[in-house]
Amino acid sequence: MNSWMWVFALLSVYAFAWRISADHNVRTERISGSAGDVLEDNPIGRLKVYVYELPSKYNKKILQKDPRCLTHMFAAEIFVHRFLLSSPVRTLNPEEADWFYTPIYATCDLTPTGLPLPFKSPRMVRSAIQLISSNWPHWNRTEGADHFFVVPHDFGACFHYQEEKAIERGILPLLQRATLVQTFGQRNHVCLNEGSITIPPYAPPQKMQTHLIPQETPRSIFVYFRGLFYDVNNDPEGGYYARGARAAVWENFKNNPLFDISTDHPTTYYEDMQRAIFCLCPLGWAPWSPRLVEAVVFGCIPVIIADDIVLPFADAIPWEEIGVYVAEEDVPNLDTILTSIPPEVILRKQRLLANPSMKRAMMFPQPAQPGDAFHQILNGLARKLPHKKSVYLKPGEKVLNWTAGPVGDLKPW
Ligand SMILES: *[C@@H]1O[C@H](CO)[C@@H](O)[C@H](O)[C@H]1NC(C)=O
Ligand SMILES: *[C@@H]1O[C@H](CO)[C@@H](O)[C@H](O)[C@H]1NC(C)=O
Repeated sequence: MNSWMWVFALLSVYAFAWRISADHNVRTERISGSAGDVLEDNPIGRLKVYVYELPSKYNKKILQKDPRCLTHMFAAEIFVHRFLLSSPVRTLNPEEADWFYTPIYATCDLTPTGLPLPFKSPRMVRSAIQLISSNWPHWNRTEGADHFFVVPHDFGACFHYQEEKAIERGILPLLQRATLVQTFGQRNHVCLNEGSITIPPYAPPQKMQTHLIPQETPRSIFVYFRGLFYDVNNDPEGGYYARGARAAVWENFKNNPLFDISTDHPTTYYEDMQRAIFCLCPLGWAPWSPRLVEAVVFGCIPVIIADDIVLPFADAIPWEEIGVYVAEEDVPNLDTILTSIPPEVILRKQRLLANPSMKRAMMFPQPAQPGDAFHQILNGLARKLPHKKSVYLKPGEKVLNWTAGPVGDLKPW
């Protein structure tokens, strides 16, 4: 058989398998056991959050200067604030709060092309902490251990977009004890604290909704990916970007008819994902990617190529069952790996993906909906309660070092 015939034969098998599943009307499957239940938890009544009232220069004023902050992939920091202000978990009485939240829009400083610059973020966060610790008694009681911060930037609270620099900086010293809600998730990395909550990057929900095609459209594309393979601007030598994984995808499969991959971003992008069986989710500069959110929303099995990644809400979503993990070094075998997955395994993953609770957990809709990413963040915070007695410091006890970290961070903001 030549390769085209082979592709056709293979796709027919999947189309056939798909039809069987449609006939039997078992197109969605609940995740059994604790994982599914956790995803459907209702956080209301399980925790109370106090929202510090900060001068608008820490949040609203910054947004006024650049409304693009509402649509970029780190926009969660803004939407979480808005969500909490009107959430039933909010309390106006700090004495009864389980968690304290400081609304700072630290990634809303965009270049003309829309890339967030994190250089002022450390001073901004430091300034806000100075403010809350001198105006309210709660920070000093725990030095932040019952406070959470949303830090969706590339390497979270390390506040740098280059990994080497981020590692050198480490997590901002004043945030060492706080719970960090961040998109960055990689095991054994200085920019991920144990106890952090990993969230999906922001992807515009309305925009995705308007591109939905009928569910019964056959999935006739085997592997789909649109995005960069090489970042010639920032990595002219090659090899650094995505640790070479994306380059390996391109070099090995650019001429393989099973792979619909390209750097072009077609207008049918969202529709194409709904016609694909597998969607590649390779790491970029950092291991997170909006590709993962899109794949889940469009029911395309995510193929996760990012060693040691910690995926969003991994304690509630069984990513191994939904997606396919491929080690970065195994990229050259991607075709064999994916074609040897039995159709019944593929169908089960598709049914799990079709579960609406999965899609909801990946999105930050306005207004919020039960089970969405906002609620998953609250669930994560509620599961960390009650706080250990040991987080409360003795009178006069100090743990944080206010002068630690790069000297530049100590300048007033
Ligand atoms: C909290 O501790 C800091 C540093 O020790 C101090 O400057 C501040 O006044 C304290 N805040 C309150 C409310 O007592
Ligand atoms: C705090 O950090 C600064 C700068 O790294 C260091 O010089 C100082 O000794 C530290 N203070 C304490 C009490 O550890």
